[in-house]
Amino acid sequence: MRKNIVAGNWKMNKNLQEGIALAKELNETLAADKPNCDVVICTPFIHLASVTPIVDKAVIGVGAENCADKVSGAYTGEVSAEMVASTGAEYVILGHSERRAYYHETVEILEEKVKLALANNLKPIFCIGEVLEEREANKQNEVVATQLASVFSLSAEDFSKIILAYEPVWAIGTGKTATAEQAQEIHAFIRSLIADKYGKEVAENTSILYGGSCKPSNAKELFANPDVDGGLIGGAALKVVDFKGIIDAFK
Ligand code: PGA
Repeated sequence: MRKNIVAGNWKMNKNLQEGIALAKELNETLAADKPNCDVVICTPFIHLASVTPIVDKAVIGVGAENCADKVSGAYTGEVSAEMVASTGAEYVILGHSERRAYYHETVEILEEKVKLALANNLKPIFCIGEVLEEREANKQNEVVATQLASVFSLSAEDFSKIILAYEPVWAIGTGKTATAEQAQEIHAFIRSLIADKYGKEVAENTSILYGGSCKPSNAKELFANPDVDGGLIGGAALKVVDFKGIIDAFK
């Protein structure tokens, strides 16, 4: 059966010392009170090599927030999937709406990134989700179907290594959360698209996380839905007490 996962996305927050302190505190907290789900922290690139040795791998997985769409070479400023993997990281967030919107990552670029991540044994946390105007025009299903189709070129075996995150862009960092009903409805739709493409077994085994202003006070209600398998957490991942509160929604 599919895994329940709570993944933190630190975004461009915390300098190296602060990031190490946050990872240490989370590690100690979860050692004292074991989680009932997989826990992942996705950190800025420069934190990865310092954070991976200080967390208990059996309890906390570490991931990057992005990787390059090229293997190696003259791409100044880029960080390859291989480099990410060489730090001990096991996950990588790809297709986050902030990358799509601010750094113009197209479906073609994302397809390359996903393939390179998989080739380097990283588990992609692939994000999809509509913006407010699309939700208001009732186009959310169409939008997520198109975004998801960009990874439907993968073999069933490769697709099964992907974690999906549905993140309505209007809910990210806004304090506005999708209702539990809205989340369940679109998660079930996403799962049906996977079933149509790869069959029921692959669909049932794919973890689909919800992201967008998820916090301790709403996590339980969101995660209680049959098709919501955890969360991708931004702001609330920056404080152990909040992140732990969300993790505890699975208790
Ligand atoms: P948020 O961000 O929890 O701060 O809304 C979620 C995300 O962007 O992954």
